Amino acid sequence: MSGRRAWLLAVVLLPLGCPPAPERDYTGDEVAELESITEIMRLQAQIADPMLAKRDQETFSDDELDDMAEAAPRLEATAARLRAHFVGQGAFDEGFGEWADKLGASAEALAKGARSRKGKAAREALVAMKAACAGCHENY
Ligand code: HEC
Repeated sequence: MSGRRAWLLAVVLLPLGCPPAPERDYTGDEVAELESITEIMRLQAQIADPMLAKRDQETFSDDELDDMAEAAPRLEATAARLRAHFVGQGAFDEGFGEWADKLGASAEALAKGARSRKGKAAREALVAMKAACAGCHENY
């Protein structure tokens, strides 16, 4: 493919937003040791994006709620790592930590809503999660 066509293709595909996958999967203990914020973000996208894509749904199947209940605590772990390890590094001040806390709180609410089969609560938690991702990205 010519350079120009490759460039055009990249411009067309990028907004569809499919970030690179993390290098591998991580257990909760390993997440608590991750040093690379890029890797944490790729992991977060891998976990959260499929759920965030459903935040406009009126209802969720039991399978979907089960998946959310399983996935959400993993985002509580990444949010805790962002708060514990990255606040104070470079431009990441207390405000960064507050966005991380918002992500953690939305993940906790999602886990709770999904486990108790409360679709509306799960949906609201997904909307809050999207706002936490976007809010931090706007500011940092
Ligand atoms: C507390 C702040 C914060 C929150 C919350 C946050 N991000 Fe990020 N995100 C960042 C920063 C900072 C970067 C740039 C990281 C770097 O230097 O590579 C980033 C980068 C990314 C990237 C690009 C990674 C790459 O391949 O370069 C993706 C994808 C991403 N975030 C997804 C998410 C998702 C999904 C959420 C919510 C579930 C989220 N982020 C929540 C701060 C945040």
